[in-house]
Amino acid sequence: MPPFDLDAWVARSGALDLDAIPWADVAKHEVPPDAVRTLTYMQDIERHTIIYLRSLLATRAVDDPEVSTFLACWLHEETFHGIALSRFLECAGHPVPPRPTPRGQEPIAKRLESWATSMVSKAWPDFCAVHMTWGAINELTTLTGYLRLKTVARHPVLDELLETIMRDESRHFFFYYRQAEIRLQRPVAARVARLLVDRFWAPVGSGVGSDEDLKFMARYLFSGDEGRAQARKVDDTLRKLPGFANAQLLEAWMDRHVGPTGHNGGLNGHRHN
Ligand SMILES: [Fe+2]
Ligand SMILES: [Fe+2]
Repeated sequence: MPPFDLDAWVARSGALDLDAIPWADVAKHEVPPDAVRTLTYMQDIERHTIIYLRSLLATRAVDDPEVSTFLACWLHEETFHGIALSRFLECAGHPVPPRPTPRGQEPIAKRLESWATSMVSKAWPDFCAVHMTWGAINELTTLTGYLRLKTVARHPVLDELLETIMRDESRHFFFYYRQAEIRLQRPVAARVARLLVDRFWAPVGSGVGSDEDLKFMARYLFSGDEGRAQARKVDDTLRKLPGFANAQLLEAWMDRHVGPTGHNGGLNGHRHN
């Protein structure tokens, strides 16, 4: 397998251009209430990247020159996604409400998770294989989520903004996926990564926003035939990683937490908490 070309990747990195978005046109078109709720959740997760990074900095990720360079670019780009999405909401007349708890004050479960992650990383040299696999799953889920939002929300300025964000998310996905492909060549790394994903993976943002908002968003974006087909496509791509054939990911999570295939249960536009 050819080595990863970090220089080429870095050359394409950079924050999205906020001045290129026609903000004055946002209010000319209606934003569906479900999209407002989804975007409010998404901007919070994007802005939370710096907190994820805090726990990653306590792992071997910082010792790997490719990964640490990537993380610096990644944080920069994700932060601008958060800024752009919240500006969109503000222009649409739905400014983001203050967070109920300060961002830095993570719940005990999250702090324990960070601690456990750093312990696993110290004890296990192949930790980066798991980190890269995890990142690939989350970036592809995010990318597909934005694609679905673009399709269901149908707002011209949002379309343009999401296209720009999706270009970044697909570069993020490419980095993580290629790194995972390379690092999972080691059978032990692949076995442990699969075990940890099977046991602990949940969609990005779990435990950051409310569970109700996460389930609402998942239902809004991935229910119905088209949503389900996209979720399956995410899983099919990830199953091509070494050791991940037949892994149960987004579609299985949807089955467990949102309900079985196909129907959105008439939930569009209504909160069923
Ligand atoms: Fe992002
Ligand atoms: Fe991303």
